[in-house]
Amino acid sequence: MTDVISALRLLTRLKNKSVHLGVTGSVACYKAIELMRALLHAGMRVSATLTPAAREFVTPLLFESLGAFPVYADIFRDGDVFAHLEPGQNADAFFVVPASANTLAKMAQGLAMDMLSAQYVAFDGPVLAAPSMNVRMWNHPATQNNVKILKERGVAVIEPDSGSLACGTSGKGRLASLQHLFLHALRAVAPSDMQGQRVMVTLGPTREPWDGVRFWSNPSSGLMGSCLAMASWIRGAEVTAVAGPGVPEELLPSDLPGLVRINAFTAQDMFEKAAGVWPESTLGMFCAAVADFSPVPFGDKKFKKADHQDGFSVQFTANRDILSTLAGERHGRQKTLGFAAETAGSMDELLSLARLKCERKGADIIAANCVNQPGSGFAAPTNSMAVACADGRGEIWPTLSKADVAWDLCTWLLQA
Ligand code: C5P
Repeated sequence: MTDVISALRLLTRLKNKSVHLGVTGSVACYKAIELMRALLHAGMRVSATLTPAAREFVTPLLFESLGAFPVYADIFRDGDVFAHLEPGQNADAFFVVPASANTLAKMAQGLAMDMLSAQYVAFDGPVLAAPSMNVRMWNHPATQNNVKILKERGVAVIEPDSGSLACGTSGKGRLASLQHLFLHALRAVAPSDMQGQRVMVTLGPTREPWDGVRFWSNPSSGLMGSCLAMASWIRGAEVTAVAGPGVPEELLPSDLPGLVRINAFTAQDMFEKAAGVWPESTLGMFCAAVADFSPVPFGDKKFKKADHQDGFSVQFTANRDILSTLAGERHGRQKTLGFAAETAGSMDELLSLARLKCERKGADIIAANCVNQPGSGFAAPTNSMAVACADGRGEIWPTLSKADVAWDLCTWLLQA
């Protein structure tokens, strides 16, 4: 599992939230279908309204067949005379995607001349718009002014990407990536209980070179840390993620507003980068599988097999512990969450180990898992955790998706 959408599809904490999609006329219409499918997979409910122009590209039947309900089309031909007041009563968020220049203009002016624009005016929940159009239409002062009006009104405008456009030109105007659309939709329906928090997450492995081309490392994928970073972001936090090598962009995007990605390589490098971020953070989530020891390298050239036919020894030196060092330097209400990868014989033993580590590291919470159990630990989509708090609280959790584990750990850390 190497991308955010696959990881967050397993999040059940937002199950049954509902998103209303407003689909307008753009070649990017088919991407609204991909977004709808990702939201449905995450257990959410999706309804949709297609403008007449959107229906030139895709049909209401396609949305219905793939699981959207209800799907609205014409304002005067829809069976329900009050359909233009929907989805105000039902949806948790209204997402206009793709948003054409025409619909953005109607929204900015409050024109209620078709089903979608009337529903927008009748909706008083969170609204998002993901524009998609030709670069000249996007750059036109009228469009820019409409976007400004909408932003000032609190509409979350998901800026289009730059690149080649369907019309053959290139520039800004491509619909934002599915990953961004999905994350913004989740954020719109989630509680904002982490707003105001500045979260630092360490994640992934470190690599400790032992000659000019080889390194000592571990199989950490960064999935658990990515889920923590994303859960925090979805709940309104500003996030800085210090990522070890090999954590893919799909698992930790570097271009998401409100999320800063800093790449680190060795344990020492990760330590320095985390130490630079920590003083400005309110919550620290230390999820990286940091090498406890680093080999003393055999120089910066490739180590030659022919010179060591009788074998050789490697000397290791201990690395500083990022979690315990930074937990020891905390100020004010900074809170820390650490992890423990253990090989315990039972969950009760795992909880005892978590309690010991919580005290030894000076953390507020230690979440321990058994790396020798199937469905838990490195790269698995799920984790079975024993969670210990410095205040004495301790719990054994059932096997949960890493997305749910991350969500619940964020809740615990807020309460710690
Ligand atoms: O002692 P142990 O390696 O089991 O501790 C694991 C916890 O400590 C994890 O939260 C890990 O991110 C953190 N850690 C660290 N720096 C190290 C080693 C571990 O922050 N050098």
